[in-house]
Amino acid sequence: MAIRYSFPPTRPGSDLIDIAVLVSGSGSNLQALIDSAESYRIVAVISDRPSVRALERAAAASIPSAVVSWDGDRSRFTERICAAIEQSGAEAVVLAGFMRILGPEAMRRFPGRIVNIHPSLLPEFPGANAVGQALAQGAPVTGVTVHFVDEQVDHGPIIAQVSVDVRSDDSEESLHRRIQEQEHSIYPRIINALAERGFASDGQSI
Ligand code: GRF
Repeated sequence: MAIRYSFPPTRPGSDLIDIAVLVSGSGSNLQALIDSAESYRIVAVISDRPSVRALERAAAASIPSAVVSWDGDRSRFTERICAAIEQSGAEAVVLAGFMRILGPEAMRRFPGRIVNIHPSLLPEFPGANAVGQALAQGAPVTGVTVHFVDEQVDHGPIIAQVSVDVRSDDSEESLHRRIQEQEHSIYPRIINALAERGFASDGQSI
């Protein structure tokens, strides 16, 4: 795993950091975050879609959840998402398969405190269907990127990347499965590491 971000020193005697996890679908990354929480506590799971598996996972772990449906207006939607996060008391925001783009207001409200995971080695293959794009372009290697969120899509300071070899007989499903194995290992490690340091960055993102 290549960790590009230089973490500031661990906070002495720190408490758990409260985080909100934003989801849209199956929530396998949410599950990994639930299972490996050490330095953070998930205080809210917020979905833009009702009836998704991620909400079942939250309920099974007794984590409060909310649905904030897309209403066709990015700034109004962002405002409602931010209000739900603030209501939960979360100090940081972890996007885990959240398929909506947040407006700039979210970065203003949680500066340097929004993190995303994306199934490619950014800046390659941003946007939807990153796995399909890697296969279609015959990339020999793709992977996973964890990064701070800025105002562009799948963009912002990179925290860590893991590469995954593409096999000649890979389907989108088989490749995504191997990528997700890496996601489930890297994401909790990075969020624990950030939480240990209070999500404080080196000034680049806060
Ligand atoms: C993951 O592959 C993540 O990288 C991407 O969306 C997928 C979400 O999967 N942003 P899950 O909902 O965590 O299972």
